[in-house]
Amino acid sequence: MPKVKIDGFETEVPDGTTILNAARQIGGDIVPPAMCYYSTLKGSGGKCRTCLVKVTKGSEKDPRPMPKLVASCQTTVMDGMEVANLSSEEVLNARRGVVEFLLLNHPLDCPICDQAGECHLQDLSFEHGLANTRYEFERRTFEKIDIGPYIKLHMTRCILCYRCVYTAQQLTPERVHGVIGRGDHAEISTFIEKAIDNDFSGNVIDVCPVGALTDRTFRFKSRVWFLNPMDAHRDCPTCAGKAVVWMYGGEIFRVTGRKDRYGEVQDFICNSCRFEKKGTSDWTIEGPRDIDRHSVVSQNHYEGATLTVK
Ligand code: SF4
Ligand code: FES
Repeated sequence: MPKVKIDGFETEVPDGTTILNAARQIGGDIVPPAMCYYSTLKGSGGKCRTCLVKVTKGSEKDPRPMPKLVASCQTTVMDGMEVANLSSEEVLNARRGVVEFLLLNHPLDCPICDQAGECHLQDLSFEHGLANTRYEFERRTFEKIDIGPYIKLHMTRCILCYRCVYTAQQLTPERVHGVIGRGDHAEISTFIEKAIDNDFSGNVIDVCPVGALTDRTFRFKSRVWFLNPMDAHRDCPTCAGKAVVWMYGGEIFRVTGRKDRYGEVQDFICNSCRFEKKGTSDWTIEGPRDIDRHSVVSQNHYEGATLTVK
């Protein structure tokens, strides 16, 4: 099995593992951010460039460094490879550039955005963003669109990561939306503003790294950091029924999939669990969810305590 060193930490990974996944195996701060890669979605990655790293030694056989920074979600590890992420000023500079680029058209409307507090772009801007913009041109804007009864598309916030497209393609029997247009004209669309309507369509909300796709049953109800995320399950005929219910007192405000430390859903849930089961009697509450992110959500999170909601 190839060995790789990332920022001085060594690990051994199976053949074909990407640098990003090797870094995730090591864990901690050295893991590059990823806005478009999603481990359970085939074909994801390679779009946003936030995961750029520097390969300072190609492999044991060919130790030459790679001439350019590479996308860690797309580059596989070679035996003896050495990679610099946080330890490279060049990488940090490039990441600052990528964040600036992602923010060219993205509005800074975090105070009214439902994704605030769990938005990967917000975290990334906080860590690598500039205080000012150098962009002088008119930003592209779009009308908000309801795509069906449950999902709101706010295209102005989209960073074109394609995750929602892969989710619809791989999780649902019929994909009715995609990216139309290219370059500055590219946008997520259902072509004829058709509803995205099938049992698992709500998962596009969970995979969206920004607030471009939001839950219409939860929009503007509460800031996420005021809610207590609780692991809960129910006997569901359609999905595994394992979810997180976001509670305020004894009330469930929203239901989402359970996400891991990198914000990726562990079990995709069906629309019935997500949008229709908001009563505490619908769920068996297991206890507080451990939110392992630096997000503000975890700041308001009580750990270790258990709570039984009848
Ligand atoms: S709507 Fe969200 S998930 Fe879909 S491409 Fe845009 S940012 Fe990505
Ligand atoms: S996460 Fe690697 S390019 Fe987006």
